[in-house]
Amino acid sequence: MTLYSRVRPLAFKLPPERAHNLGKQALRTAQATRLSRAALSYAYRYDHPALEVDVFDSTFSNPVGVAAGFDKNAEVTHALAALGFGFVEIGTVTPYPQEGNDRPRLFRLREDDAMVNRMGFNGQGMERVKERLQVDGAPNVPLGVNVGKMNSSSEDEAIEDYRRVFDRLSPFADYVVVNVSCPNTPEEFDETSPEHLERIFETLEAENHRDVPILVKIGPDSPEESILELVDVVRDLGVDGIIATNTSTTRESLESPDREEWGGLSGKPIEDRSTAVIRTIADHTDGDLPIVGVGGVDSPESAYRKIRAGASLVQLYTGFVYEGPSTAKQINRGVVELLERDGFSSVEEAVGADLE
Ligand SMILES: Cc1cc2nc3c(=O)[nH]c(=O)nc-3n(C[C@H](O)[C@H](O)[C@H](O)COP(=O)(O)O)c2cc1C
Repeated sequence: MTLYSRVRPLAFKLPPERAHNLGKQALRTAQATRLSRAALSYAYRYDHPALEVDVFDSTFSNPVGVAAGFDKNAEVTHALAALGFGFVEIGTVTPYPQEGNDRPRLFRLREDDAMVNRMGFNGQGMERVKERLQVDGAPNVPLGVNVGKMNSSSEDEAIEDYRRVFDRLSPFADYVVVNVSCPNTPEEFDETSPEHLERIFETLEAENHRDVPILVKIGPDSPEESILELVDVVRDLGVDGIIATNTSTTRESLESPDREEWGGLSGKPIEDRSTAVIRTIADHTDGDLPIVGVGGVDSPESAYRKIRAGASLVQLYTGFVYEGPSTAKQINRGVVELLERDGFSSVEEAVGADLE
């Protein structure tokens, strides 16, 4: 029995957002000294040469990262790296602090291994995040910065929001993500229209003096043609990769009492849909546009399915909540076994293996 399997029933008695904040406090304490970080690493890191992935101009020691939303304000990047994650994505970071939606806004769907959230881009804003990155320093794994706009911003103001957050935080980033797929922020205009995307990426490229890779994060709910149209638009604009996918507004075959709460669904129920989106994009782009796969990853098998469908890297949020601190280690160890079983010498060799 792991420590987490004993702590989890207690944590799950608390309201989800309170449990999340307590968990983050524990991680903040655990990353406070070099010695405590080393102890975490010793217990939780799993390294193997087959796990190494070179993508987005960086070397990732393993392909399993923490998805946006877990560490919105860059408070626990060092602890997450010490827990064996191959990369950490902070954010979504907005230009100014923002409260987000009223509570409760995070729900556990235990019977479905899922969550619903309508956090609504709550966060401390870019200046606080910048200060923290300066004081704490960069973690020893690649850092992604997910950038967003204020909920109240008009279409024109949104462009300036992205520009400001990019300008402040891209110096710390190994890649930057433009998040145009949050299902629980107000939709004042079409964030995925070709014209809007063109304005965003032209503005960011003009500021991108360090040539930081820029990715776009998409949702799982649009029909295949719309997803491919969007992929074509961003590819023509020179975007370096796609993160697929964000949470879903669909609610199919769920059991949990909170299944009708509005917001974005994450975890097991969106796994297949998000993997299908990855496969569609990888097929369409002949594997030329790197994909970060996210949605329902919680085991070596689910990570490996996304890799075989065309993801160079994977990320998770909900799986980490359910599986606890040894999630990255368990997944990475299992992926190595699956690679060996199938005769691949590395993750890179298995990327897109299921495509014709
Ligand atoms: C509570 C919560 C907050 C999230 N916040 C963000 C966010 O700020 N920005 C973002 O791009 N994605 C956000 N996400 C989406 C995750 O990054 C991820 O795309 C989604 O949860 C699917 O992965 P999972 O099934 O492993 O959770 C959030 C997810 C959850 C559960």
